[in-house]
Amino acid sequence: MSDTGSTTGETTTPAPTTITVIGLGNLGQVLARTFLDQGHQVTVWNRSQDKADELVARGATLAASPAEAVAASDLIVVCVLDYTTVRDLLTPTAAALAGRVVVNLTSGTPDPARELGAWVGKQGAAYVDGAVYAIPQTVGTPEAFVLYSGDAEAFARYRTLLETLGSAVFVGTDAGLAPVYDVAVLSGMYGMFAGFFQTVAVGGSAGIEAAKVTELLVRWLTEAIAALPGFAAEIDAGDYRTETSNLDINAVGLAHILAATKEQGVGVDLLAPLHALFERQVSQGHGAESMSRAIESLR
Ligand SMILES: NC(=O)c1ccc[n+]([C@@H]2O[C@H](COP(=O)([O-])OP(=O)(O)OC[C@H]3O[C@@H](n4cnc5c(N)ncnc54)[C@H](OP(=O)(O)O)[C@@H]3O)[C@@H](O)[C@H]2O)c1
Repeated sequence: MSDTGSTTGETTTPAPTTITVIGLGNLGQVLARTFLDQGHQVTVWNRSQDKADELVARGATLAASPAEAVAASDLIVVCVLDYTTVRDLLTPTAAALAGRVVVNLTSGTPDPARELGAWVGKQGAAYVDGAVYAIPQTVGTPEAFVLYSGDAEAFARYRTLLETLGSAVFVGTDAGLAPVYDVAVLSGMYGMFAGFFQTVAVGGSAGIEAAKVTELLVRWLTEAIAALPGFAAEIDAGDYRTETSNLDINAVGLAHILAATKEQGVGVDLLAPLHALFERQVSQGHGAESMSRAIESLR
């Protein structure tokens, strides 16, 4: 069960191994295909068997059940709808799990990841949780990355192989950590989408096409995003002193934006809560401090 791989120049080729992929949805199919393309012996299982046809034509073996699929390989990669499904599928395989490594690339939340990790551990197997930052089309490209947490030794054993999906980043031995990072990072992404919808709604209220205002939004956000590491450093240091854009200025500016948005007949449901966070800090006497201090309203 070794994946030390061989390194030639800058390319590292993982040693061939046996891999089972359970779940052949949009992502799971690409994961299995990537492993097959690397020359591994791949066994697959999916609830709807027809999704395995193309993979079988490329050399994969179709297992008749999750238990048969687990018994076929050292490494078990699971990628299904949710953690309940993972648990339901793995429970009948318990007797076959000992000595294997389960890498769960299903999206989930921290506590279910910890519970699943503990259950897999009780069966004598190692558990690694993963959060995939790729879409099926970008798996295996330089843009793709995957966060992993859980059993460090198991991760190290398969690291070279996992790198073929996207750069593999181990974030800690608590199995719940990859989902914590995932929730954190995706929260930021949805915040960005919230801002986008607000932009398009305000622009649209004056007849501006979404494409036109979005072009400017992307240009401005590309500049504004550079402020984030500085804010993060202030938050980590707990030092919110600033000589530039403070909370007072931003609270007033955002209040104007909210008023103008209402005048345009557009809802402020997405932005008003941010203004409330600013105001809470201002009312506590922190108006002269950095906008990053708004984090204290969330804690
Ligand atoms: N697609 C992406 O870009 C992407 C990116 C990052 C993370 N993810 C995560 O990866 C996971 C899979 O995503 P996906 O895009 O591959 O989803 P998907 O195309 O909808 O596939 C879902 C998979 O789950 C299986 N499944 C659902 N309910 C089941 C049940 N009760 N019993 C057994 N199998 C069941 C499906 O089987 P059937 O084929 O039989 O329906 C299918 O294999 C999700 O957690 C998703 O959040 C996806």
